[in-house]
Amino acid sequence: MFITFEGIEGCGKTTQVKLLTEKLAELKLRVAVTREPGGCRISDRIREILLDAENSSLTPLAELFLYAAARAQHVQEVIQPALATGKTVICDRFTDATLAYQGYGRNLDRALISRLNDEAVDGTLPDLTVLLDCPVETGLERAFSRINSCNGAREERFELESIQFHQRVRDGYLALAASQPARFVTIDGSKSIAEIESAVAAAVFKRLKL
Ligand code: TMP
Repeated sequence: MFITFEGIEGCGKTTQVKLLTEKLAELKLRVAVTREPGGCRISDRIREILLDAENSSLTPLAELFLYAAARAQHVQEVIQPALATGKTVICDRFTDATLAYQGYGRNLDRALISRLNDEAVDGTLPDLTVLLDCPVETGLERAFSRINSCNGAREERFELESIQFHQRVRDGYLALAASQPARFVTIDGSKSIAEIESAVAAAVFKRLKL
């Protein structure tokens, strides 16, 4: 089982990934948790380039290719081996993020993005995608309070984009979810952490037939 989490900045997916992982581990399922961009050494290096606020001159096409490169490495090095040993893989962002951010957000050709996604994933597609949807203002407020309270690298290149950009990303995610209802479950990310947690668990348990 391959589960991905998606949503705009500050939608709460990182918290929910952690909670779901703990829940599945309690049920004695073997779980591998990972994220994009990143998830392994080489892809983490690419992540640093992608999210560094100083790289404001990165062109949209260069950005797209870096996401594809990070994904190709991550799928082969982490996701496919974990699935092959029977683990449930939970990934914080995957191919839909590229369609939403680079396609809808940056207006890059979505057919090209799908082609790059197909090459990078090598047939490994999510069985279930949890989309945490919330208003852009709610998400950005949460994202900035997190960034301001952390002392590590300031991974905020995307948070610095315009509200209109984030709105296009949100609309893009909703369009993707509407076009693939069998794979997506959309959950209201403005609810409380506990309410979202039980909605996520219900969706996952139904899919895992637990
Ligand atoms: P994160 O903050 O959820 O770790 O995600 C990192 C950022 O990367 C986030 O702003 C969304 C962006 N992103 C893309 O633009 N395209 C992609 O394909 C992925 C995976 C992430």
